[in-house]
Amino acid sequence: MYPLQTLHTFGLPACAQEIEYIHSLAEAKQLMDKLAGRSYYILGEGSNTVFLEDFAGSILKIAIKGIALHESAEHYELHVGAGENWHALIEWCLARDIYGFENLALIPGTVGAAPIQNIGAYGVEVEQFIHSVDYLCLASGEVKSLTHKECRFGYRDSIFKQQLAGQFVIGMVKFRLPKSWQANARYAELKTIQNPSAEEIFAKVVEMRQAKLPDPKIIGNAGSFFKNPIIGLTLYQHLQQRHHELPSYPVNAKQVKIPAAWLIDKLGFKGKQQGGICCHVSQPLVLTNDGSGTGEALLTLARQIKQAVKQEFGIELENEVLLVSNNGLVHV
Ligand code: FAD
Ligand code: EPU
Repeated sequence: MYPLQTLHTFGLPACAQEIEYIHSLAEAKQLMDKLAGRSYYILGEGSNTVFLEDFAGSILKIAIKGIALHESAEHYELHVGAGENWHALIEWCLARDIYGFENLALIPGTVGAAPIQNIGAYGVEVEQFIHSVDYLCLASGEVKSLTHKECRFGYRDSIFKQQLAGQFVIGMVKFRLPKSWQANARYAELKTIQNPSAEEIFAKVVEMRQAKLPDPKIIGNAGSFFKNPIIGLTLYQHLQQRHHELPSYPVNAKQVKIPAAWLIDKLGFKGKQQGGICCHVSQPLVLTNDGSGTGEALLTLARQIKQAVKQEFGIELENEVLLVSNNGLVHV
């Protein structure tokens, strides 16, 4: 049995039957052939994955490395191995005066996982810079590539979470960053800096994140536990009559996004502690593990939150984190 506690940032005690490291897509193909039909879970840095209990299968840990830089007159193009660390890539770019990623500073995890849920923060989503994604297609055994358009990116969403779910191993992400950089300072707290440089945005984002979000090295967590729900205008207008201060962000002519943190805060869960699991005091969308939590305690608190939100607001929360049980993924 192989311990997983340090391989996922939520830090629950769990084991897998074995762990294999993948250094290339050719190696991934060999492993998949060897596993033939047995259970496995592909793992980056485990910052969006919670192992609720022992996993009856193999862990395939992505260790595909390498950063190659190509230049045209107008763009930088980066070909990055799926196992590179996301934040380290941003630092690598800043050190070479390559700008664009700075709003996404300090998001934990690997480059290969970034397109899967289209990581986003402080007014930017990674899809903006993705040119294409190379992956091993598990159905055909071939290495294929998807263009930005084919990835069908959305809020915390892509083809990898939908039609291709469970059928791919990402090996490389190709990014294209325009040389003519423009700051993205639309997010309220970034507007306070006059004509910010990329380094200033990077520093501000790091500062804001450190102030709000618990550091997984100190207290176990997997970032936002739920997605921010997108609801129709009819429900929104109905809710607004009861809660005038309900915040919202426009999505399109028919839908708005509601901050789940506000709903959870309003229901009084902030700071609630139960069985070693806590609804974080400065960001109630984040659930934490004080070191004594269990998978069962986490599911219990998460289900209480989900039920209360449904009852009070008629909104169905959906977990953003991937919850892995003994034999695969489960939902709250
Ligand atoms: P893992 O958890 O290891 O894997 C995530 C999923 O991707 C799993 O389904 C796994 O099977 C699959 N996977 C991983 N690599 C591959 C591959 N190469 N091929 C095929 N499948 C693969 N996210 C945001 O979007 N914005 C934020 O601001 C943000 N803040 C966070 C803050 C904290 C403190 C934490 C702990 C998490 C935060 N997250 C955020 C979530 C997380 O950082 C991202 O989802 C990240 O992209 C996960 O990377 P990972 O390598 O740890 O993925
Ligand atoms: N809020 C409260 N009470 C609180 C905290 C927040 O009511 O204690 C409300 C406020 O109205 C606030 C709003 O929630 O304006 C939004 O809060 P915040 O800006 O902290 O962002 P979020 O919507 O909770 C999202 C992402 C984060 C990302 C931040 C910054 C999702 C699910 N989460 O959080 O991503 O870092 O925006 O852009 O979309 C993650 O995915 O793991 C993650 C951390």
